[in-house]
Amino acid sequence: MKEKILVTGGTGYIGSHTVVELQNAGYDVVIVDNLSNSSADVVDNIEAVSGIRPAFEKIDCLDYAGLEGVFAKYQGIKAIIHFAASKAVGESVQKPLLYYRNNIGSLINLLELMPKYGVEGIVFSSSCTVYGQPDVLPVTEKAPIKKAESPYGNTKQINEEIIQDTVASGSPISAILLRYFNPIGAHPTALLGELPNGVPQNLVPYIVQTAIGIREKLSIFGNDYNTPDGTCIRDYINVVDLAKAHVVAIARILEKKQKAKVEVFNIGTGRGLSVLELVQAFEKSTGVKLNYQIAPRRAGDIEKVWADPSLANNELGWKADTPIEDTLLSAWKWQLHLREKGIQ
Ligand code: NAD
Ligand code: WQD
Repeated sequence: MKEKILVTGGTGYIGSHTVVELQNAGYDVVIVDNLSNSSADVVDNIEAVSGIRPAFEKIDCLDYAGLEGVFAKYQGIKAIIHFAASKAVGESVQKPLLYYRNNIGSLINLLELMPKYGVEGIVFSSSCTVYGQPDVLPVTEKAPIKKAESPYGNTKQINEEIIQDTVASGSPISAILLRYFNPIGAHPTALLGELPNGVPQNLVPYIVQTAIGIREKLSIFGNDYNTPDGTCIRDYINVVDLAKAHVVAIARILEKKQKAKVEVFNIGTGRGLSVLELVQAFEKSTGVKLNYQIAPRRAGDIEKVWADPSLANNELGWKADTPIEDTLLSAWKWQLHLREKGIQ
């Protein structure tokens, strides 16, 4: 029998790609999403890509009774991948309580229900934001957690602690915390990708919208940082590579291969790229010239961060191997698909 996995936030950007990879690996997937930042059509697109329609329940993770109904309906859920969260850093500064309630309340409901329904483990979407500006690069999982720059970032730190404390208290569950670096790109079929809400805050969505003419020009936030070309450096990870990390994390939990009840892994490429290098790679891989200008620094930006992913490489047997040019081309094809569909 196929093992059943609950994916919260499974119609979202990273969740939808992960559902496809779980299905490709033979898992039976149940999606819970309240569609606050995604659309029900994504379920059709997942089916178009994988050939399998996942079960879908439009439920809010803050709705304890509704969530419990899902565990009761789909008996035998073995593990959870918990993507559902609010994720806009700027918005979290304006609406901190919305972020604390949604991101923390959702996790607490799941952790309470897991032992009741015999769910063995949870994979949690954490973020490199927990490291702030690391003192040593590339950053390893042992680096200190820095004071969060935003309520959003703080919810990731608090959620990591909630999971650690729950397991330490004797809850019969285990957990893998995946600290993503900067996920970008789309599915190579161009049927799944990121749907930015309003004006994109993140770099790659802004680049593709500029390239297609929705935005006039990209503003590069600062060229006076202490980096070789003066622009900030990030570790951009392909979303399908990232999705595959979840599949190996789930297998590790279910096959009881964990070395500790809570494990933490950096999920990045190990390679830092500057904003200008990324723009150049985009122009090279797509053949599209990008209109950009240098603008003042953006408040709260980290100067440079990239992962040491060797723990994930060695322990999970996982590696991000998609070339950046292919990833940027996938983001561009996704934007072309959205235009073709009249969406954006
Ligand atoms: P996303 O917004 O595309 O997906 C999140 C999904 O969760 C959406 O479909 C949304 O409708 C759903 N959702 C939100 N609150 C919910 C609730 N209370 N109940 C049910 N569904 C709810 O975001 P994403 O980029 O796919 O991110 C997924 C996870 O990864 C998030 O936890 C995010 O914080 C984390 N993460 C994202 C990034 C990134 O840059 N995209 C980086 C690090 C970590
Ligand atoms: C990347 C680089 C910008 C837009 C954020 C969150 C983080 C994580 C991922 C979830 C930076 C520059 C951007 C633009 C630009 N999410 N930039 N012009 O800031 O690394 O991380 O998303 O956990 O928590 O903070 O990603 O894509 O916004 O920016 O020059 O129009 O691109 O200054 O150097 P960031 P980003």
